[in-house]
Amino acid sequence: MAVLARSILVTGSNRGIGLELVKQLVEMSDPPEHIFATCRDPDGPRGRALHDLADKHPSIHVVQLEVENQSSVKAAVAIVQSYLEGKGLNLLINNAGVDTYDTLQTVEQQEMLCTFNINVVGPILVVKEFLPLLKRAAKEAETEGMSCSKAAIINISSKLGSIAQGFEVMLDPFYAYRASKAALNMVTACLAVELKGDEILCIAIHPGWVKTDMGTEKAPLTVQHSVQGILKVLASLSSSSTGTLLDWEGRRIFW
Ligand SMILES: NC(=O)c1ccc[n+]([C@@H]2O[C@H](COP(=O)([O-])OP(=O)(O)OC[C@H]3O[C@@H](n4cnc5c(N)ncnc54)[C@H](OP(=O)(O)O)[C@@H]3O)[C@@H](O)[C@H]2O)c1
Repeated sequence: MAVLARSILVTGSNRGIGLELVKQLVEMSDPPEHIFATCRDPDGPRGRALHDLADKHPSIHVVQLEVENQSSVKAAVAIVQSYLEGKGLNLLINNAGVDTYDTLQTVEQQEMLCTFNINVVGPILVVKEFLPLLKRAAKEAETEGMSCSKAAIINISSKLGSIAQGFEVMLDPFYAYRASKAALNMVTACLAVELKGDEILCIAIHPGWVKTDMGTEKAPLTVQHSVQGILKVLASLSSSSTGTLLDWEGRRIFW
């Protein structure tokens, strides 16, 4: 695959879909120059696999970033900026997220708020703080239109957050998770409208039901297969894709 983008940042990249994104990005025939692999606890036991990978690839920079903690996000911006040496950030992938298994009987206020904080407030804060670097990348590009190689925001959402199609796959309510992903979809649509003039592409993507800690062993899709699909979709995006929700095979999902 040709170069997807010169610089890419992934949140929640120490396990699951995030870690596999970093693995496949670095293994591309034309890999990005900088991969900012962020996670909330890089020095803890859950950061081990990411550090092992980064030790083999100098283009991977492991950066601490807890999505709902504004000072952590600001500190991450400063580190990313120091590597970019005056250039912009091309691609921001908001992947970090948490799930819930609540019903109307079991749902708790604190769980709802915590899920919203990570799945909705977090991505907004991350975009807000990295926006100057994304705008810089868009301005630097000598191409017309939108693409991931120029400047883009990808929100890893879920079909479960789609009001139109989210009950085709599963009937469980999962109030906090579904509502948070529906909100993230709206955030994506708002960003697409607001950032159109800056030629920053914004989409939400559903990775499929994937075998990760979140998706569990019961999921039909391997993480390798899902991420291969996601990267193919990202490479194909253009101005006409902005403001949409797509699945890992590039199919449109209605909000
Ligand atoms: N797996 C599926 O079937 C599926 C389906 C649809 C959508 N998705 C979406 O895909 C994304 C990745 O899911 P996954 O399956 O890879 O989940 P996962 O295996 O549970 O990994 C979640 C990642 O998010 C990180 N994270 C959680 N809270 C964070 C925070 N506050 N700040 C920074 N990082 C945080 C975790 O870090 P720690 O290790 O520190 O906890 C971990 O790296 C999520 O947004 C999820 O909603 C997944």
